[in-house]
Amino acid sequence: MAGGIDFRFDFSLVHEGNLRNGEGLTPLKMSRALGRAQRAANKLASRHAAGEIGFPGLPFLEKEARALSRYAAGMRKRFTHLLVLGIGGSALGTKAVYEGVGGESARKGLRLTVADNVDPDGFFPLLRSHPMKTTAVVAISKSGGTAETNAQLALAIEGLKKANGKKWKDHLVLITDPSRGVFRRFADSEGIASFSVPPNVGGRFSVLSAVGLLPLAAAGVSGEKLLAGARWMESVFRGARGEKNPVLAGAAVYSHYLTDNPKPVHVWFTYGEGLARVAEWWQQLWGESLGKRRPSGTPVGQTPARAVGVTDQHSQVQLYQDGPADKVFTFVKWMGGREKGNVPAQGFAPGMEMLGGRPLRDLFHAEFEATIGALWKAGRPIVRMEVGKRDEAHLGAFLHYWEWVTAIAGECAGVDPFDQPGVEEGKIITRALMGEKGSGKRREEFLRAMRNRDSAEIRIAGGSPSGGKRRRATRRSGKERG
Ligand code: PA5
Repeated sequence: MAGGIDFRFDFSLVHEGNLRNGEGLTPLKMSRALGRAQRAANKLASRHAAGEIGFPGLPFLEKEARALSRYAAGMRKRFTHLLVLGIGGSALGTKAVYEGVGGESARKGLRLTVADNVDPDGFFPLLRSHPMKTTAVVAISKSGGTAETNAQLALAIEGLKKANGKKWKDHLVLITDPSRGVFRRFADSEGIASFSVPPNVGGRFSVLSAVGLLPLAAAGVSGEKLLAGARWMESVFRGARGEKNPVLAGAAVYSHYLTDNPKPVHVWFTYGEGLARVAEWWQQLWGESLGKRRPSGTPVGQTPARAVGVTDQHSQVQLYQDGPADKVFTFVKWMGGREKGNVPAQGFAPGMEMLGGRPLRDLFHAEFEATIGALWKAGRPIVRMEVGKRDEAHLGAFLHYWEWVTAIAGECAGVDPFDQPGVEEGKIITRALMGEKGSGKRREEFLRAMRNRDSAEIRIAGGSPSGGKRRRATRRSGKERG
């Protein structure tokens, strides 16, 4: 396995020797940050050994992965389409890996769609586009209590019943906690096929469990290879010391820019098809794991932002270069890429002939280097990461790498990287607003607070775009009385 995997992590552009504006890490700062990262990693290892956190063990659940891939093989024989229902950590990992390995253009199994929104203008057409006689639905909710996924599931079941009558259950799989929550109760009472997410693995750390492995395997993506890649990264992490260890070095550098020289924004600039989806997965991991209050009450966190090379060079780079020095950058690209095509030798406007007869990829790589160089000249801290290939092993390794870096950075910052109290509060209020039993008091309190807020709403309505009739504008201000 080791022979086939290839990564390049480059932290040189955050070293003080290369960043001489006070933004870089001196050898002393780096060694302190590494020491802190090592201590945090040791603490996480103890939490893992005590069974409190489960993500480090997922790559070793090979037997489970084989069982999932056998089940998925059965699904591929019975169905043409796979509709995954879920949100956040129950959706983003599958999307990242699926698009990472090539998406629809490289598909080897069922036609996969992940529905992670309840916008009716998106969800209803999506549902209608599925031939429910040959569609499998995999609904994923670790807690079971997420309103969005429950609403999607009810609609999908209605569609399955219409198309398949009594056989609707044969089309459905639930993935949830092994013993708790409404999804688990529903699966058990209705006799619906189900798989479990280990209780000590939270949503955004769950891509290498059934949450990602089952839908991906049904779409023809090998879970065994994903896990093999993650095990490879685990052995790199366990085997290298200090600055030679890319996990510790990454955690040290990023936690420096999280708390010692805090940069409120972390931009992932991706170069390569599919990486934008990986960046979406990372955004949730980074934002939700680190955006917290410490026990003392002080907030910590970094806004995870995404930019796509080369497109956003012509949209974001001006800001990144000359705007506020409030960002740390991670540039991510595939080392090689798949397509080998050349630009034709002729047909250029005068002065552009240098582009002719060369691989288009040369231009793409030059843009990557040029953008890094320009931002570096402007004194921005930059980490470069190159991923050898667009395959399962590399993606498994890369996602596992970021899970570790994020967990260690959280531990270094003094927050719990594995909880999400803000997300939970939003879920509770949503259920209350929708009339959940026993939530009347909470609903009233929330609505009263909203009514009593200062309002500054301007609504413009009436007339026609051609300007025939006069428009009516209303402005509400001051306290709204409830
Ligand atoms: O990372 C997390 O825990 C969350 O973002 C969840 O994945 C998300 O809220 C969905 O939760 P659930 O899987 O319980 O429906």
